[in-house]
Amino acid sequence: METGRRIDGKKTAGEIRLEIAEAVKKMHAEGRRAPHLAAVLVGNDGGSETYVSYKVKDCKEVGFDSTLIRRPSDVSESELLELVKGLNENDEVDGFIVQLPLPKHIDTQKIITAINPDKDVDGFHPVNVGRMVLGLPGYISATPFGIVELIKRNGISTSGKHCVVIGRSNIVGTPMSILLSRNTEFGNATVTLCHSRTPNLKEMTLSADILIAATGRPGSVTGDMVKPGAVVIDVGTTRVPDADRKSGYALKGDVLFDEVSKVSSAITPVPGGVGPMTRVGLLLNTLKAATANLR
Ligand code: GUN
Repeated sequence: METGRRIDGKKTAGEIRLEIAEAVKKMHAEGRRAPHLAAVLVGNDGGSETYVSYKVKDCKEVGFDSTLIRRPSDVSESELLELVKGLNENDEVDGFIVQLPLPKHIDTQKIITAINPDKDVDGFHPVNVGRMVLGLPGYISATPFGIVELIKRNGISTSGKHCVVIGRSNIVGTPMSILLSRNTEFGNATVTLCHSRTPNLKEMTLSADILIAATGRPGSVTGDMVKPGAVVIDVGTTRVPDADRKSGYALKGDVLFDEVSKVSSAITPVPGGVGPMTRVGLLLNTLKAATANLR
């Protein structure tokens, strides 16, 4: 049995970026402007700065316009709501995101629900979550969307498989469990959603044909938890201090790669697996915002 084929998210994301760049060229040829993503960044949290700078860079690479709007960490909730309202009404902006986390004095849910769902390219608005659950057109948040594309484009079928998802976050575990169980081309799996109160986790993971780890607990999925021949998708990207690196940290997945890759038939590495697909997920949503006429 072939073991441990690396599912190369960086390569798949690169292919999708080329497709997006082609779509932008076609829009220009038709006399239309480029898709435009705006990002709101409050304060200067190190992680958020990095993520937003990637988003701006990714836009540039595929030919999108982007606008970064900064506000200080003491911005008031009402000022932020006004900013969101302005972006909702700005026809030059196809989609926008408000980078999370927000400072404690701001009600995050209030900000998210103020975003026009048709411009909510993060897919965080309750309307988009509802659309996703019902299988209606809308935005699926970037990480689940990226994972769907990664699985599809690497020739892995989910139909009839037992998929075990570990982690029930609103952003990854819960939407993945719904998308996998749907009666659609991607989907038709039998899904088990495991979490911190699952007493027999190993019993569950050992019966998984496809295992998706999304807890943010580095190295918590070990070789003895994986069925020989399973496909393993590692969503973890925890920053662990590492003095040997220029950045001062290393990215660690939830899966103990060296052990698990000896058992699995295919596995995503960290970095270079789900991370690049998440980035491309936002670009796909922005392209959709500019072309699908959801509005
Ligand atoms: N913070 C961490 N990930 C994300 C994301 O995907 N979107 C937003 N808006 N904030 C984040």
